[in-house]
Amino acid sequence: MRVLVFGENGQVATSLRKRAGDIDVICLGRDQADLGAPDMLRAAIEATDADVIINAAAYTAVDKAETDSDQAEQVNHLAVGTMARAAAKRGIPFLHISTDYVFPGDGDQPWQPDDETGALGVYGATKRRGEEAIEMAGGVYAVLRTSWVVSSTGNNFVKTMLRLGADRDVLTIIDDQTGGPTAADDIADALLTMARAYADGRKDSGIYHFSGAPDCTWAGFAAEIFDQAGITCEITPIPTTDYPTPAARPLNSRLDCSTLETDFGIKRPDWRKSLVTIVKDLT
Ligand SMILES: NC(=O)c1ccc[n+]([C@@H]2O[C@H](COP(=O)([O-])OP(=O)(O)OC[C@H]3O[C@@H](n4cnc5c(N)ncnc54)[C@H](OP(=O)(O)O)[C@@H]3O)[C@@H](O)[C@H]2O)c1
Repeated sequence: MRVLVFGENGQVATSLRKRAGDIDVICLGRDQADLGAPDMLRAAIEATDADVIINAAAYTAVDKAETDSDQAEQVNHLAVGTMARAAAKRGIPFLHISTDYVFPGDGDQPWQPDDETGALGVYGATKRRGEEAIEMAGGVYAVLRTSWVVSSTGNNFVKTMLRLGADRDVLTIIDDQTGGPTAADDIADALLTMARAYADGRKDSGIYHFSGAPDCTWAGFAAEIFDQAGITCEITPIPTTDYPTPAARPLNSRLDCSTLETDFGIKRPDWRKSLVTIVKDLT
C-alpha cells in the first residue's frame, strides 16, 4: 500500500514517515509540491500511483495569519481545494488534517464533528474553508480535526516549556483554555489506520475529531511536562485575558472523538503516555 503525503518536515509528516511500518509513505516537500503553486499539486496527483493521499502541510502560524491572510488562505483553503479536486478526478481518497480552531470555543461541552463552526481568527477561518472545499470536491475524503499538536520535532508547547522551565523559577501559564494535547505520532497512527481502511475500499466520507485524553488546560499540560522532565518550576495560572495574542484562541477546545472510534476503531490516546517519548527525545 502506498500513501502520498503533502508536507515533509512538519510534525505530522515527520511522524507519518516514522510510523509507516510496511506502508510505503512518500512525502513531498515544498520543492516538489509548493502549496502556493496549483500546477505542481495537480501534476503530483496526476502522476501518483498512491492508494491514498494525505495532506499534512498547512499554514500553521496562527498569530502571523492575522496579517498574512492571503498566504494562509492560499495554503489552507485554495491549495486544499486544488488537491481535493485532483484526487477526486483520479478516484484517490483524500485525507486531510484540520483543527479545533474552526470552533468559537464557547461552552464547556466537547464539540461534535457536525456542530456549527465559527472560527475566532484567520487561521481557523481558512482551515474551515479548506474543509468546505474538500466537501465540495466530490471525491472520497476524511477530515481529521485535531488539537494542541506536539512532537519531538518542530516548535511546540513541550519544547517551549522545557526551555523556559529550565531557565525560570516561576512561569505564568494560561489556565482557562481546555483541550486535548495530541502527539503527532498518535495522529500519524490514526491517519495510517484510516488510510488502510480507504485503501481497502471504504467509500464513506466525513469529518472526524481526534485528540489526546484527558482534556486539560495549558497549565495542567505544563505541570505534567515539568513532572516528567524533573523540572521544578512553579506555575502561576492566568486567564487568557492576561496573555493577549494577535489571534484569539478558543477557550473550549474539547473534541468529541467518538465517531472515529465507531467508524475506524480508533480510541483517544492518553497524551501523558505519548509525552514520555517526546520528553525523553528532547531532554
Ligand atoms: N500544530 C498544532 O498545534 C495544530 C493543532 C491543530 C491542528 N493542526 C493541523 O495539523 C496539521 C499538521 O500540523 P503540524 O503541526 O504538523 O504543522 P507544522 O509542523 O507547522 O508543519 C506544516 C508543514 O506545512 C508545510 N508548508 C507550509 N506552507 C507550505 C507551502 N506553501 N508549500 C508546501 N508546504 C508548506 C511546512 O513546510 P516547511 O517545513 O517547508 O515550512 C511544514 O512542513 C495542519 O493541518 C494543522 O493545521 C495543528
